[in-house]
Amino acid sequence: MRDLAGKAAFVTGGASGIGLALGCAFARDGMKVMLADIEAGPLEQAVGALAETGATVKGVTCDVSDRAAVERAAAETIRAFGPVHVICNNAGVGVGGGPVEEIPPADWDWAIGVNLMGVIHGVAAFLPHIKTHGEGGHIVNTASMAGMATGPMMSPYNVTKYGVVSLSEALAAELQGTAIGVSVLCPGWVDTRIDESGRNWPTRFGPRRAQTTLARERQAQIAAMLRSGMRTDEVAERVLRAIHDNDLYVFTHVEMRPALEERFRRILTAYDKAAAFKRQEPRP
Ligand SMILES: NC(=O)c1ccc[n+]([C@@H]2O[C@H](COP(=O)([O-])OP(=O)(O)OC[C@H]3O[C@@H](n4cnc5c(N)ncnc54)[C@H](O)[C@@H]3O)[C@@H](O)[C@H]2O)c1
Repeated sequence: MRDLAGKAAFVTGGASGIGLALGCAFARDGMKVMLADIEAGPLEQAVGALAETGATVKGVTCDVSDRAAVERAAAETIRAFGPVHVICNNAGVGVGGGPVEEIPPADWDWAIGVNLMGVIHGVAAFLPHIKTHGEGGHIVNTASMAGMATGPMMSPYNVTKYGVVSLSEALAAELQGTAIGVSVLCPGWVDTRIDESGRNWPTRFGPRRAQTTLARERQAQIAAMLRSGMRTDEVAERVLRAIHDNDLYVFTHVEMRPALEERFRRILTAYDKAAAFKRQEPRP
């Protein structure tokens, strides 16, 4: 999409971090912005601060893991702004530090509910609307470099981010040749409060299990990486360019290329082995 001015955007996880930066960038480009978030207080503050800049902005509280809540938020956005063009399925939680076999089932449920189902709910709630209004649009799904190359000790998070990449690739193929673009945002470390995701732990899962020493150490390392990470406004600028250019993959951290190359190298080596295996004589 080349001209965003006057159009409307819906951003989940819009009360802080990358989501708020996206909302600010869209508003600066003259868009009407709906910020959606599970945290009512920070959401109200974010909407107030943006409104003071003269932006047309509203907020809606919404748990993206709840399909009905996302549908209600979509209806409210359409009621407020009319046709909606840019959808950022961005809300996410950092969850799941530890070895796979020790991760509590509730951590899996939470990660999958917010990071993956939240994106699916956003697409389901808005894509039919964008197709119907016919003015074109763009869907931005926030994944991560964790959806491109997996490290240890963070499996629920990584699994959901691979899912978001896959979903976005499928959507882009399904929408090819239409006026609806798709981008999947894959940042490395960004200076946000994602290391404090536990603030939104759902009470329906009961008390959160105490972290192991290993998980606490890992969390401290992650916090340090985040604090020295990229600024959110830089990420948002990159996303705006991707919407303009209709880029599917949106990378921000060029220094992470070796991790991708290593993954692809190992996959292709395994493929070569399969080809060599096929050429071998059958076993007697
Ligand atoms: N910060 C990073 O280094 C980094 C790197 C790669 C990807 N990401 C991704 O960026 C996205 C935004 O995260 P962030 O880093 O800005 O963190 P953040 O914690 O600052 O922002 C996340 C926002 O999502 C909201 N949220 C959490 N659960 C929700 C739910 N169930 N429903 C609605 N809103 C909910 C939070 O209240 C918060 O405002 C996430 O998907 C995250 O996985 C972050």
